[in-house]
Amino acid sequence: MQHDIHSKILGSGVAIPPKTLTNADLEKIVDTSDQWIRERTGMVVRHVVDENRQNSDLASEAALKALDDAKMTAEEIETIIVATVTGDVTFPSTACYVQSKIGAVNAAAFDVQAACSGFLFGLNIADSFITAGKSKNVLIIGCEVLTRIVDWQDRSTCVLFGDAAGAAIVGPSSGDGRGILGTFIKTDGRLTQLLWMPGGGTRYPADVALAENLNSIKMRGQEVFKHAVTAMGDAATHIMEITGLTADDVDLLIPHQANKRIIDATARRMKVSPDKVFVNVTKYGNTSAASIPVAFDEAMKSGALKTGDICVMVAFGGGFTWGSAAIRV
Ligand SMILES: CC(C)(COP(=O)(O)OP(=O)(O)OC[C@H]1O[C@@H](n2cnc3c(N)ncnc32)[C@H](O)[C@@H]1OP(=O)(O)O)[C@@H](O)C(=O)NCCC(=O)NCCS
Repeated sequence: MQHDIHSKILGSGVAIPPKTLTNADLEKIVDTSDQWIRERTGMVVRHVVDENRQNSDLASEAALKALDDAKMTAEEIETIIVATVTGDVTFPSTACYVQSKIGAVNAAAFDVQAACSGFLFGLNIADSFITAGKSKNVLIIGCEVLTRIVDWQDRSTCVLFGDAAGAAIVGPSSGDGRGILGTFIKTDGRLTQLLWMPGGGTRYPADVALAENLNSIKMRGQEVFKHAVTAMGDAATHIMEITGLTADDVDLLIPHQANKRIIDATARRMKVSPDKVFVNVTKYGNTSAASIPVAFDEAMKSGALKTGDICVMVAFGGGFTWGSAAIRV
């Protein structure tokens, strides 16, 4: 197996809001049950950001931890990519606020909007920037405050989402064979209306969005489920082809944590055994762009991933978007 190593994850960090929302709490808000949520999604708890904290606060907290982990200063960051669909404001980008909050004065900063695949879109860009010599150290943060855009009267969506941030510093590989082995991203813009938030843009001005209840996540759950399984499979197949990896080479699969049943279907399709699949959807719910970096950080810090292991990440999300990455950590 021969790979050109271009870039590498140098450190990671997370920010998880302390406040929790359990299935039992949700039973008091909508007509649902702990049993239904567990059986259909695998979720038990999610975290909810405090009213006085914004996306960029959470993102900055995760970023500072990732810098610490990488033993780097904010001044060494040349590019900041924030992957989110729940930014502080419509513009400027949340990455600008993060830059200011962490003091990364030498960076260019921008957001990537690819829903739950956002972190892997960011990783693809970071790898490309570093490979092309356009940037040395890139900070990528997947950060979401989804509890502020769910409709708390819609039981088919409000039980699914949580808040979190996960950050990674990506820099040039030191040539020790460790680093990003390959990345893959894809979109099908014909499926935009399966999962979206209509309000908040220019199509439905604020007064219209408010009057028509468009300022929240709208989802056609069963169709999303079907496309998710296909997209995750496609992303997995492509990354194995690009890198030449086989299922036996994979030490840990980190799938986007949207639903335990989608995770299981992806693992089966990849022929990766369940003990090699990282699952934390139970305790965070779906945190969209934060899902993969939070799982990666937990896998690194818990020892589920050890130096030299091969990790494959696979995600899908609204758009439809999907993507994957393979890394020797
Ligand atoms: C949302 C999801 C869990 C629903 O599960 P499902 O098995 O498809 O359920 P359905 O939508 O067919 O609904 C089945 C029934 O459960 C009900 N239901 C929906 N949400 C419920 C809830 N929270 N509690 C109890 N019942 C619920 C429905 O109203 C429906 O009732 P009915 O048969 O009387 O009409 C599932 O479709 C899913 O996970 N989709 C993908 C979502 C996703 O991953 N989104 C993020 C992408 S990044």
